[in-house]
Amino acid sequence: MTDARRVRPRRLRATPALRRLTAETRLDAAQLVLPVFVKEGLTEPREISSMPGVQQHTRDSLRKAVAEAARVGLGGVMLFAIPTVRDAVGSQATDPDGILNLAIADTVAEVGDALVVQADLCLDEFTDHGHCGVLTPGGAVDNDATLVRYAEMALAQASAGAHVVGLSGMMDGQVGYVRDALDAAGRDDVAVLAYAAKYASAFYGPFRDAVESQLEGDRRTYQMDPANRREAVREVAIDLAEGADIVMVKPALAYLDILADVAAMSTVPVAAYQVSGEYAMIEAAAARGWIERRRAILESVLSIRRAGADHVLTYSATELAGWLAEEI
Ligand code: PBG
Repeated sequence: MTDARRVRPRRLRATPALRRLTAETRLDAAQLVLPVFVKEGLTEPREISSMPGVQQHTRDSLRKAVAEAARVGLGGVMLFAIPTVRDAVGSQATDPDGILNLAIADTVAEVGDALVVQADLCLDEFTDHGHCGVLTPGGAVDNDATLVRYAEMALAQASAGAHVVGLSGMMDGQVGYVRDALDAAGRDDVAVLAYAAKYASAFYGPFRDAVESQLEGDRRTYQMDPANRREAVREVAIDLAEGADIVMVKPALAYLDILADVAAMSTVPVAAYQVSGEYAMIEAAAARGWIERRRAILESVLSIRRAGADHVLTYSATELAGWLAEEI
């Protein structure tokens, strides 16, 4: 005989101690990765207007930011850079003295291996047309010519000291091609993070301000269609077969179904990227007093973990880690 009144799920919600004991998902600073921006030639850090609290760093302020990230126990950082000079093939991406490669070396000099030092491996910050690859004479993104540039970029980043290269360009075959190039150069120690299921999303808007993107048009011929779910499993399977060490789903909050699917089938760690637009939405609503900022940040990142992410890239990482430390 079941008496509905005997069944009381609320019993386990009665006190903070009971809730803490029975929580199915927890946040840990080690599972957070901070994306950071550094701009060539800056003398003072500059606030990004569509991302309150996030800056374009100078090489100096970058060092302070990554030192702080290490101090609060983050898992890693993901470096993005804005060069002064852009061209058709993104030459600065492969120049050892290019700003991204210098930033990698600066970061490693500052934190050693206390953080996993990761770099964005994509051409969009470096090309004058803003696409993630090189173009054919007709203006289409040339998949296989781009792979050659990615391989050169991977070697430059590895030489600068990157522990992980973050392949975010969504070219077919990019993981295998870069893996082979690293291995052939004797750099089988460098891990490949594949942005495996990366969607052509409106939520990247503020990021394009942050990197002063030159893009006109969109990335729909290479990034995934937000309508597609099954295709994400296909993309991840391809990247696993090509040797990805970590796979990523991006954006996060509007793609939790994808994250759950990928977590169920991946044989390697799964990352998720809470992107610039997700950050900006929370900040904008909180600034107007429409949502509680701290609770909204904690809840959103917790949701991303609950859906299946092993670790989360978030612009809130350093502050969030501070809150987690307070709660202990
Ligand atoms: C490509 C790249 C982008 C982001 C990360 N890597 C931009 C894009 O694909 O257009 C977006 C991250 C964010 O919005 O926070 N280098």
